[in-house]
Amino acid sequence: MTSFRARARAVDMLGRQQIANLPTALSELFKNAHDAYATYAIADYYRKLNVLVVRDDGVGMDLDTFQGSWLTIATESKLERSPVDSPPGMQPRVQLGEKGIGRFAIGALGSQVLVMSKLAGSPTIAALVNWQMFELPGVDLDEVPVGLIELDAEELSDVDVRGLKAPLCEALERFRSKDSSVSWQGRLDAIRATIDALPDDPYWDLPDSIALGATGTTFLISSASPELPADLESQGTNEASLFDRTLHGFTDVWLREPTTPEFSVDFVDHRGGGDSESRLGPNEFFVAADFDQADHHIRGEFDDAGNFAGTIRVFAEDAVDFDIPCPDSSPPRCGPFTFEVGVVQGMASESTLDPEAFQAMSMKLRKLGGLYVYKDGIRVQPYGRPDVDYLEIEERRTLGAGYYFFSYRRMFGAICLSSERNSGLREKAGREGFTGGRAYSDFRRLLMNLLVELAARFFRSDGPEARSYVQGRERLAREDQLRKERDRQATAGR
Ligand SMILES: Nc1ncnc2c1ncn2[C@@H]1O[C@H](COP(=O)(O)OP(=O)(O)O)[C@@H](O)[C@H]1O
Ligand SMILES: [Mg+2]
Repeated sequence: MTSFRARARAVDMLGRQQIANLPTALSELFKNAHDAYATYAIADYYRKLNVLVVRDDGVGMDLDTFQGSWLTIATESKLERSPVDSPPGMQPRVQLGEKGIGRFAIGALGSQVLVMSKLAGSPTIAALVNWQMFELPGVDLDEVPVGLIELDAEELSDVDVRGLKAPLCEALERFRSKDSSVSWQGRLDAIRATIDALPDDPYWDLPDSIALGATGTTFLISSASPELPADLESQGTNEASLFDRTLHGFTDVWLREPTTPEFSVDFVDHRGGGDSESRLGPNEFFVAADFDQADHHIRGEFDDAGNFAGTIRVFAEDAVDFDIPCPDSSPPRCGPFTFEVGVVQGMASESTLDPEAFQAMSMKLRKLGGLYVYKDGIRVQPYGRPDVDYLEIEERRTLGAGYYFFSYRRMFGAICLSSERNSGLREKAGREGFTGGRAYSDFRRLLMNLLVELAARFFRSDGPEARSYVQGRERLAREDQLRKERDRQATAGR
């Protein structure tokens, strides 16, 4: 029988070469933790050691699941095989995994990974994968070994570590004879150096990342990608780093009705010398109460037919119901979804927030403002990042800010989808958004129409329902004038 053969480089192409960027690669690991019913997934980045450890307290894997799922490329969609049973006392979770390649994104995060996993009632397993080997040309996939063992004890011993390395080192020796050139031998030397650099006791230096709980999985990635520090750095004082823009709001816990409140993620940046910082702490991002604080608040739902029904609160007025009919004659292909957004005025003098709260909110908005998209409670990349103008909000603003009103830097909110109701919206494998089919174009058109209609009806001075907005602005301007007058008199009187 003749069939396709696979070079080792196929793995590199599915993972490292495909994933949009490093934080997105990390989000793939977080999603796998979610699917494994973890209550947390934490990444610890040890800058001095150049090690990244990602761990979760999920159900874990035994030897069979590791071989059948983790080591099988394009393993069946989680929906097609028997689902992971929800552990006692936990809400069932919609499984996010669909393509069976998400884990290969680890190859982008670093050159080698030591996996440890524990499934209840089974021995802990350990595996060693060197991703550099998958970059070698002329090597078949089945020539690249993965070190895999079951542990006798809970902890990894030096004998175990040597046992994991042995098959990789033996393969390297076999590859030596393929090509005698200096460059080939140099590549093999580099791989050997990565393998040798893994200490006999890999966790000895990593006091904060407890290897494993009762069950769960730990990925020790070394050496971490040299691009990681740059992604963690912001480009300017008012800018959030690519990392923050991508990973903040990973779960929808900041919304009023979170889908998976039992799951959280964090990233701890260990700078060395005992200096470590939690980068995804809940205080850095928006919270549900921010919607009440915002100058304007809009929420509602598109139904199957694409008609929107919702409520709008403008300044301190009572919220009122409104609806916007579907702009198209045929029903949209995207399915029904919810929408919620808070908007803050551009100037302190026009905002109901007090000056201090306005400052804090404006700072947050400049960094992380945007309209995020969630599917089954987990953020869909890259929506929400201010540089991803998927609703052409910024583009339209240049046509006339008065008419279009909205700006990512003055709004925060979320669109909530579900895989069941919105099956037409499919993500690209590299996680750079939805594929551009009809469902996606209908989805965008509904949202763009909603924003344009909202601006025209409620926020344009001659809009049919703009009374609250116009009067509210006038009142705030008068109050601001009075305050300034009082301040002036107080200064003059001194
Ligand atoms: N953190 C984890 N805990 C338990 N199992 C995991 C974990 N990460 C990956 N797996 C297993 O490896 C498989 C492959 O993961 P992945 O490549 O992301 O594909 P998908 O999530 O689309 O199934 C998963 O289906 C799951 O069985
Ligand atoms: Mg996955």
